[in-house]
Amino acid sequence: MFTPEIIDRFNKISTPFYYYDLNILENNLKLLSDCLTKSNKVHFSVKSNSNSNILTLIKSYGLGIDAVSSNEIKHCKALGFNSKDIVFAGVGKSDKEIEYGIINNIAYFNVESFQELEVVARISKRLSKKTKVSIRINPNIKSDTHKKIQTGSSDDKFGIDINDISLIPKFNKLENIKITGIHFHIGSQLINLNPFHELCEISNSVLKYLNDNGLKINNINVGGGLGIDYENPENNLLSNFKNFISLFNNKINLERSQSIHFELGRSIVGQCGFLISKILYSKKSYGRNFLILDSGMNNLIRPALYDSRHKISNITSKHTNYSKYDVVGPICESSDTFATDYRLIKSDRGDLIVIHSCGAYGESMSSNYNLRDNINSYFSDTI
Ligand SMILES: Cc1ncc(COP(=O)(O)O)c(C=O)c1O
Repeated sequence: MFTPEIIDRFNKISTPFYYYDLNILENNLKLLSDCLTKSNKVHFSVKSNSNSNILTLIKSYGLGIDAVSSNEIKHCKALGFNSKDIVFAGVGKSDKEIEYGIINNIAYFNVESFQELEVVARISKRLSKKTKVSIRINPNIKSDTHKKIQTGSSDDKFGIDINDISLIPKFNKLENIKITGIHFHIGSQLINLNPFHELCEISNSVLKYLNDNGLKINNINVGGGLGIDYENPENNLLSNFKNFISLFNNKINLERSQSIHFELGRSIVGQCGFLISKILYSKKSYGRNFLILDSGMNNLIRPALYDSRHKISNITSKHTNYSKYDVVGPICESSDTFATDYRLIKSDRGDLIVIHSCGAYGESMSSNYNLRDNINSYFSDTI
């Protein structure tokens, strides 16, 4: 994957930096496009990656945007995304953000509480607008993923309690809003598709209930969540969109006028991004071999935040034998650890280290903690 020419280029760039392989991204986008029917629409979850070049490529495949702040909407509009292709989710939208979404005529709001719905109605009235909303429902489904990226179980803050769906038709009577959809997102990095089967069943019964109670739903937004292979990324660079999309297309009882919306993030961009670092120090302490990199949790917080494990490779080692290492960053936190007891080719100061599968929730979650600089991004077509 990393040819001598690319390594040569990497060696000329100051580390750390993000590297994006746009072929991997395009192959995923093509695969996804091939799986979609006329009744499907994908809104890319911009929180997973807000890099302008990445978004521009995604836009060229006709995807819309799933935004969670007015700044994300602003950013995507500046890149040429059309308001009618932007949906706005998030459990805590401020009045100012709601006003921004309404004025900019976005496709619809994914509203997460009846309290928020009333605020949207009030602001819409003041602006003399009729605003389309989808109601995010928490279906109370346990998904087999890290607790901190589960979003659809009863103790999560997202959406309305499914036992309150009887209130939805009543709230649709509020002036200046129109409930046109239902919305779910049960969690992220789901490899096992069973929870999505459960989601379809729940979605069907909600649709039936709303229909029986006089509320016509246009779009069923099932969120994102499809997982990627972090352990063996090189053999699984493409996501299993076929199984994922067809599951919903086959299981949701869709009427002609209705469509299924998806909000995919990780499965589109996860495998195309890499964090490239240099080893600053290789030290032994109490019998442990530490490799101290020049990138840390400020560049990739997932291991510290979610105990996530990324594949790590040394692409310039001069050795052939392997050793076990704790691969850590320079930040003054013990959680600034990418991997412990990680089997890696013998590594020395100055070697280039690649952390794989960083395209999603990598650059977009990075910070300036310890007042470290933002890092640059490079792309396979221009590097
Ligand atoms: C509401 C919502 N939709 C979509 C996504 C994207 O999820 P994923 O990147 O797992 O596809 C998220 C991620 O947290 C989300 O909160």
